[in-house]
Amino acid sequence: MTDTKTAVHSAWSSRFAFILAATGSAVGLGNIWKFPYITGENGGGAFVLVYLLCVLVIGIPIMIAETMLGRHSQKNPIDAMAYLTKEAQADSNWHYLGWMGVIAGLLILSYYSVIAGWATAYVLKAFTGSFYVDNPAEIKTLFDDFVASPVQLIFWHTLFMLATMLIVVRGVNNGLEKAVQYLMPVLFFLMLLLVGYAMTTGSYFQGLHFLFSPDFSKLTANAVLTAMGHAFFTLSLGMGAIMVYGSYLPKDVSIAKTAVLIAGADTVVALLAGIAIFPIVFANNLHPDSGPGLIFQTLPIAFGSMSGGWLVGILFFVMLVVAALTSSISLIEPAVAWLVESKGFTRERACVWSGLATWALGLGTVLSFNAWSEVKFFERTIFQLLDYLTANLMLPIGGFCIAIFAGWMMQQKHSIAELAMPNDLSYQVWKLLISYVAPAAVFFVFLHVIGVL
Ligand code: PHE
Repeated sequence: MTDTKTAVHSAWSSRFAFILAATGSAVGLGNIWKFPYITGENGGGAFVLVYLLCVLVIGIPIMIAETMLGRHSQKNPIDAMAYLTKEAQADSNWHYLGWMGVIAGLLILSYYSVIAGWATAYVLKAFTGSFYVDNPAEIKTLFDDFVASPVQLIFWHTLFMLATMLIVVRGVNNGLEKAVQYLMPVLFFLMLLLVGYAMTTGSYFQGLHFLFSPDFSKLTANAVLTAMGHAFFTLSLGMGAIMVYGSYLPKDVSIAKTAVLIAGADTVVALLAGIAIFPIVFANNLHPDSGPGLIFQTLPIAFGSMSGGWLVGILFFVMLVVAALTSSISLIEPAVAWLVESKGFTRERACVWSGLATWALGLGTVLSFNAWSEVKFFERTIFQLLDYLTANLMLPIGGFCIAIFAGWMMQQKHSIAELAMPNDLSYQVWKLLISYVAPAAVFFVFLHVIGVL
């Protein structure tokens, strides 16, 4: 059924609404769940340094470019790329970039929702106090038993997908904006509180040392790729989320300033998460490379031993779920916006179909933690494969193409007009980064991984 009313392109109510939504998209499981565990798996300091460098020289310029492409076209990523390709008289293959983004978004959401389901389950566990046992080994067993149960994981994954759909169905102004409005201050406050606790563990400096003193001998080619991929993942870049959010952005807002702000906030949250978690890891003789369960095995120890920890634990996991929700809605929004604007779906129908497909795909991730844990492709479980394929390959490739398109294909008069930089120099710096530095960096990391370098 075609509902032409919903096909009108939406808009944020203000610059602030965009900042909140884009920060909400950026800050999520990537910062609090993924950053600590991949840092732990890849040896700490050197990995963190590469990640920070990537945010600065690749992430920020591409975030500016992606927002710009969205706002200039005023369309969902698939239609946006088709339109921009025509406008620039570029090769028509460029429009596949929009497709790749939409697909990457759904693939990411399929496993993102499973992990967000864990966080949802931990809200309940925090509430009933079931993980407040004294000994870290028991907390680990609790986690292991939990992920060993497909039924439980499917239940929480389903619940999280439903929550995502409920928000997305309400649209940009009612759903997305409202959801992110209250989260950020609470999130910041709780992270600071956890860092405060980390200072009391006796291993605070060991944690800091792990995070910030680089040992380059631990830096493999794949670690560099993971760090770069994570810069894309954590900033929500390379798959159209920021493009579609940019398309809802009023014309008078400065894109560059906003991008720097968002990337800054995202990085601070990730570093705070690392500073909170590693001291707990070392103080309890846990292993930094414990994998995806890391925060679920460490933070309950903190909540169990700080005063008022019961409440802090509940608040923390609630906040983690909300942070995940404000990201998950941006993972599915490109697909939904395309179905509505281009295929004439109502928003409801678009949500149901894209949600169902993603949910079904998520079952593969659920089973990869239990029944199918031995089913491997290229030595990876389904979850690991999806993660590698999206974060390490699709997002950097998408980002690379966005950089090339913005730097080389789009007419300069359009990028100058969209970016409206306060002076010529800042535009030139961006242009240099987007045309040469960012694509070359992505390219060299890939060459390095393939072993050519
Ligand atoms: N940036 C989100 C996070 O760090 C994940 C995400 C990736 C969201 C890509 C949108 C697009 O949790």
